[in-house]
Amino acid sequence: MREQPSLFHIHDEWRIGSVYLVDSYRVNVSAVSNELLGKAQVNGYVLLHTSDPNARLIGRVDRIVKAPVHADELQDAAAALYGGGLAHNDVTISVIGTVRGAGGGRERPVFTGGVDRLPEIGAACYLLQGEHFALFVNLLADGAAMQAAPLTLGSYAQAAGAPAILDGNAFFHRHAAIVGSTGSGKSWTVARIVEQAAELRQASLILFDLHGEYGPLAAHPNIGRYRIAGPSDLTRKSPDALFLPYWLLGYEDMLALILDRSDENAPNQAMAFSRAVIAAKQAALREADMQEELASFTIDSPVPYPLDDVVKELTARNEERNVNPRTGNETNGPLHGRFNRFLPRLSAKRSDRRYGFLFPPQKQQLEPDYLDLLAETLMGRGGEHSPGVKIIDFSEVPSDILPLAVSLIARLVFQIQQWSGRQSRHPVALVCEEAHLYMPQRSSADAAEARAVHVFERIAKEGRKYGVSLLPVSQRPSEINTTIMSQMHHIVAMRLIHHADKSAVSLLLPEHLGGIDQVLPALGVGEAVVAGASCLLPGRIKVREPECKPASNSMKVWEEWQGNRNPQQLRDAVRHWRRQSRG
Ligand SMILES: Nc1ncnc2c1ncn2[C@@H]1O[C@H](COP(=O)(O)OP(=O)(O)OP(=O)(O)O)[C@@H](O)[C@H]1O
Ligand SMILES: [Mg+2]
Repeated sequence: MREQPSLFHIHDEWRIGSVYLVDSYRVNVSAVSNELLGKAQVNGYVLLHTSDPNARLIGRVDRIVKAPVHADELQDAAAALYGGGLAHNDVTISVIGTVRGAGGGRERPVFTGGVDRLPEIGAACYLLQGEHFALFVNLLADGAAMQAAPLTLGSYAQAAGAPAILDGNAFFHRHAAIVGSTGSGKSWTVARIVEQAAELRQASLILFDLHGEYGPLAAHPNIGRYRIAGPSDLTRKSPDALFLPYWLLGYEDMLALILDRSDENAPNQAMAFSRAVIAAKQAALREADMQEELASFTIDSPVPYPLDDVVKELTARNEERNVNPRTGNETNGPLHGRFNRFLPRLSAKRSDRRYGFLFPPQKQQLEPDYLDLLAETLMGRGGEHSPGVKIIDFSEVPSDILPLAVSLIARLVFQIQQWSGRQSRHPVALVCEEAHLYMPQRSSADAAEARAVHVFERIAKEGRKYGVSLLPVSQRPSEINTTIMSQMHHIVAMRLIHHADKSAVSLLLPEHLGGIDQVLPALGVGEAVVAGASCLLPGRIKVREPECKPASNSMKVWEEWQGNRNPQQLRDAVRHWRRQSRG
C-alpha cells in the first residue's frame, strides 16, 4: 500500500542537499542532487529539518546557482563556498515559517508565519513539490483565518491540487490592487472575487464598471446592476438609471465642473457662486422647515437647492447697474460683466444631455429624501430589494467628467461611513476598474481628476478606520497616484511587460519577495502573482474562471474576418451614437 504523504516523512528522493550557511533569515544549501537542482525553481518552496523532530521550516528559493566545476577551478570554488559568496550548486533560501506537528495541544499540524529557530548546519533540505506542496497549502487553508473567511482565487501554479486561498478579512481590511496589462485577466479575476463576495449574506461591495462589461454577473440574485443615467434616460424612466444630482457635489467639485481657472474673473466668480449657493441652500432649508440643518449646514452639506435661483442671482450681479442718487448717473455694479463667460458655460453644461445625470429633470431627485434612497441603493446590505453587490455602469458618462462621477459615489460612501456610528458601520468595498483614469498622479491631473485624486487619496489613507476598502484595478500601475498605490497592502499582479509598471509593482512587494517581479512578463492569461498579508503563501497562481464571465472576450480577429458581417450592425452603432444610448 502506498504511504500517505506527510511533511514529516518526505522520501529522500526529494532531498536536494544540506544547509551549509545560515544568515539572519537566509539559508544556503549545497545541492547534492543535480537532478533535483534542475527541478528547483526560484520562488519555489523547500522544507528544512530542524533539531526539533516535530518542527519543519518552510523556505522560499531566492537564487539557484549551478555551475560546472573544472578541476583547476576547484580551489576557487571552495574559497567562494567558504567565503559565503557565489558557490557551485548552491540554493539560497528565505525561511518564511514553521510547520509544527500534532501534539502539544494540537490535533493536526499547523503552520505559523514566524521563525523562532533556524536550521542547523547540515540540516536536510527537501524540495516541496507536487503532493507535498499541495499538502502544505491545504495545511494553510486549514488555518483559522482561512477557514473563517476563505476567498478562493484558484490554485498555485506548482500543483493544481493546491488551492490559492486568501484571507478575505485581511484582503478587504486593507486596500488591494489588481494590475496587469490588457487581456491578462484582471476583469475575470475581479468577477471571481465579486461572485464570492455575493455569496455572503451581508456583502456590501460597489464595482465601478467603466465599459459595461460586468452585466452578466447581474444574473446572481445578490448582484444588482445600475447605470449612470445617459441622455436617453432624461425622457424615459428606467429603474436601473442612477442620477447623481448636482447638489450632491461639494463646492470644490462644482467649481471643477463649471469654473475656468484661466478666466481672470475666476476668483470673483467662485466667491459669488459660493455666496449664491449658501443663500439658495438656506432658503431651501427654511422652506422645508429643517431647523436643525439650517443652524449647522455648510456649503458642502448635501442639501438640495434650486440651481435656477443661483443662476438668477449671478445674472443679476452680472447685469447690475447702480444709479448715483446725487448725480443720477448710472454706473456698473461691482460684478458687472464678470460672469459673461461663466453663465454661458454653466448653461451649456446644464443643457448638454450627456451631463443629464447631474441635472435630472425629475423633481424627486431634487428632494432631500433622494440622498436616503441613493444611500440605500449604494450601501444596502443584501436582501430582496437591495442587492449586496452593486455594479455601476459608467459607460455612458463623458470622459471629461468621469473622474467627478466616480469620485462622487466614492465620497458619498466614505462620508456616510464617517457619519455612521461606530457600532452601526458596515464594511464596504469599492472595486475601481480602470483606476488610472481617475486616480492619476497629481502632477498630470486636470481639475476634475484632481478632485477625484483628493477623494481617493483620503479613502486610501483613512478608509480602513471607517471600513471602506479600495481595490484599484489597472493596466497601468505606474500611472496610478503614488500615494494611493503606496497604501496597497495586497497585490494581485498579472502579466506586466512595461518596465515602469513592473517597477511600480515591485515597490509594493515585500522585500524578501525580491525577484518575484521577474516572473511578471512570463505569466500566462489568468495567471497572477499574489502577495500581501491576506495570503500566507505569496506566489504564482492560476485564477479559476468565474461562473459568470464578464463580457470582455478578446476578439478572434482572423476568424471574424473570415465570417460574414450583418450591415445592420453598423447602422445600429450609428443610431446608438446619435441617441447616446446602446439600449
Ligand atoms: N482565469 C482565466 N482563465 C481562463 N481564461 C481567462 C482567465 N482570465 C482571462 N481569461 C481570458 O482572457 C480574456 C481577457 O480577460 P480580461 O477581460 O479579464 O482581461 P483584462 O486584464 O481585464 O483586460 P483589460 O485591461 O483590457 O480590461 C478573457 O475574455 C478570457 O478569454
Ligand atoms: Mg478588464
